[in-house]
Amino acid sequence: GAKERREKLLTINKQAARAFHRWLYAPEGAQGLAYLQKRGLSKGTLTRFGLGFAPNRWDALIQELSKEGYDKRDLLDAGLAVSNKDGRIYDRFRNRVMFPIIDTGGNVIGFGGRVMDDSTPKYLNSPDTPVYNKSRNVFALNIAKKSKAGQVILTEGYMDTISLHQAGFDSAVASLGTSLTPDHAQLLSRYFPQAILAYDGDGPGVAAAQRAIPLLEKAGLKVRVLRMRGAKDPDEFIKSYGREAFQRLLDQSENQVDYRLDQIKKKYNLEDDAQKVAFLQEAAQMLSTLPSAVEREIYGGHAAQTAGVSPETMALEVKKAFQQRL
Ligand code: CTP
Ligand code: MN
Ligand code: MN
Ligand code: MN
Ligand code: MN
Repeated sequence: GAKERREKLLTINKQAARAFHRWLYAPEGAQGLAYLQKRGLSKGTLTRFGLGFAPNRWDALIQELSKEGYDKRDLLDAGLAVSNKDGRIYDRFRNRVMFPIIDTGGNVIGFGGRVMDDSTPKYLNSPDTPVYNKSRNVFALNIAKKSKAGQVILTEGYMDTISLHQAGFDSAVASLGTSLTPDHAQLLSRYFPQAILAYDGDGPGVAAAQRAIPLLEKAGLKVRVLRMRGAKDPDEFIKSYGREAFQRLLDQSENQVDYRLDQIKKKYNLEDDAQKVAFLQEAAQMLSTLPSAVEREIYGGHAAQTAGVSPETMALEVKKAFQQRL
């Protein structure tokens, strides 16, 4: 049945993860181990995350798992092998460092594999399979769920999350190359009341944060946004400035409403009266979507202060926008 099938695929994945991890310390994995060490990962981190290496051969994993009695179909279904036109199969992951993706029940459900140079694709991920759905799982939640921090730190990437854990931020997770989905948000809300978005500081990262905010809020999480400066992403930031500096970024993170007000402000020149009016109107529109009257008042006050008008005037503007919405 389907349940037995899923269990078999999980067992295959677990054995694959063990083989990848073993290869990291074998002679043919030397380059992979050196790569991960060069990226600053300690032995303890490699063990905690079960990182591994996929050899530079066509069928290393296929041979390994055939010994355990698994056939072509099993390996294809697990997403660990791919077939060519003639029906021959070969390993999906070759010559890459391997990141197992583990669900909150401790099952290995998929993998990401990174090249060790600048070839493309930089990361190769498991396809969706009967046990892996990328829009329903986030990386490292199996570890982060045990954190005593009341806030989950959401990053874009494997290395961001792993570096944060190594630096002691044990509530980091990553949504892995896909934008955050409502299912991701729902899943996170089961373990945390608050989320801090720590995406890359580039255009795509900012756009991804903007899209993630309403989904997380809808799932009931309070959202703050960390502004990445002086580095591309959390991994590079920690490498350059250290954990105390990252803690300061967390402490300075903004409530999502202030963050969105800032994003709106950037579009206008507040020295110009007409643009100031336009800023306040767009801000009022955004604030009018907040369900709480208290929040509308507080953040309306922030917008008023930013533009140098009275909070009362801004409150009227927000009220007008709110009533137009009803
Ligand atoms: N990603 C992917 N496929 C790619 C590129 C990226 O799946 N070809 C996903 C990976 O999960 C990656 C995340 O998107 O971790 C963020 O991408 P990017 O910022 O480009 O990579 P980094 O995580 O910074 O990778 P690294 O530090 O290893 O270069
Ligand atoms: Mn990026
Ligand atoms: Mn990115
Ligand atoms: Mn990076
Ligand atoms: Mn990045």
